[in-house]
Amino acid sequence: MPLPKAELHLHIEGTLEPELAFALAARNSVLLPYKDAEELRRAYLFEDLQSFLHLYYGLMAVLNTEDDFTDLADAYLARAAGQGVRHAEIFFDPQAHTARGVALGTVIEGLARALDRSEERHGVSTRLIMCFLRDQSAQSAMETLEAAKPYLGRIAAVGLDSAEVGNPPSKFREVYEAAAALGLRRVAHAGEEGPPAYIREALDILGVERIDHGLRCMEEPELVERLVRERIPLTLCPLSNVRLRAVDTLEEHPLRRMMDAGLLCTVNSDDPAYFGGYVGDTFHAVHEALGLDDERLRELARNSFLASFLEDDEERRARLIAEVEAYDFERPE
Ligand code: ADE
Ligand code: ZN
Repeated sequence: MPLPKAELHLHIEGTLEPELAFALAARNSVLLPYKDAEELRRAYLFEDLQSFLHLYYGLMAVLNTEDDFTDLADAYLARAAGQGVRHAEIFFDPQAHTARGVALGTVIEGLARALDRSEERHGVSTRLIMCFLRDQSAQSAMETLEAAKPYLGRIAAVGLDSAEVGNPPSKFREVYEAAAALGLRRVAHAGEEGPPAYIREALDILGVERIDHGLRCMEEPELVERLVRERIPLTLCPLSNVRLRAVDTLEEHPLRRMMDAGLLCTVNSDDPAYFGGYVGDTFHAVHEALGLDDERLRELARNSFLASFLEDDEERRARLIAEVEAYDFERPE
């Protein structure tokens, strides 16, 4: 049995494996500009976040019906469960679908079908986090929030993703205020490619509870001190950072230094179909590359549950943390 863990930074569209993309393309009569799954996979050589986003949004053309979203989420949940994931807080990008003429209800109902049966089928509890695309207008984000009102019971939080540089958190002040007024929790990507100031804005202007990535906080010691003092969780994605060239190699990733500084770090897979591994693979990779020992891995797993939005099920959180504490690395079976 793998180490139990929660995954808190996972874009469901980023779990679209090339084989599933081709199967859905055939089902929906969508022509992809690649010969086959192997050729598509060979295109996954990214310069930066923008070059990845181009391919990521393009491939979403195969996601059209409720069934497509159900199959996508089911495949992720099965795979994640196999790597020890017991709780997943899942991002989705509604604007990337509504812009193509896919109704918001199709996306949410399709995902919800897989999520509703996930605990029973896969042993994975779930939450949905609706992300706004920060390279779209604040008005478009507000319209998306408005359109999501019939589905608020299914959405735990709002997030902010897509091209970061030039799109500061402050652009979304009003929409985050509106989301908070609706009782939604708040997270945002900040400090992935963008400067430390974006992390401060996400905290001070958007009122987020967690920072997605937050890698660049390490450039400002006072900011690190604040994140430690306020126990703000960071959802780090080391394999993503290497593939999108935020760091040169995994060996140079600051995760260990961040943990040493007292930051509440979690590790996650971001877009696992594109970045070479799911979250269990990520734990394994940081163990190898950074020499994180068993107790450090246990800390990451414990943090993942501490940082999760399981407040409405504290019993489950306590049970999962107890499993982490009791986990025997010598006898994982
Ligand atoms: N959308 C999907 N993956 C993303 C990432 N790593 N950063 C920003 N937006 C994203
Ligand atoms: Zn992300």
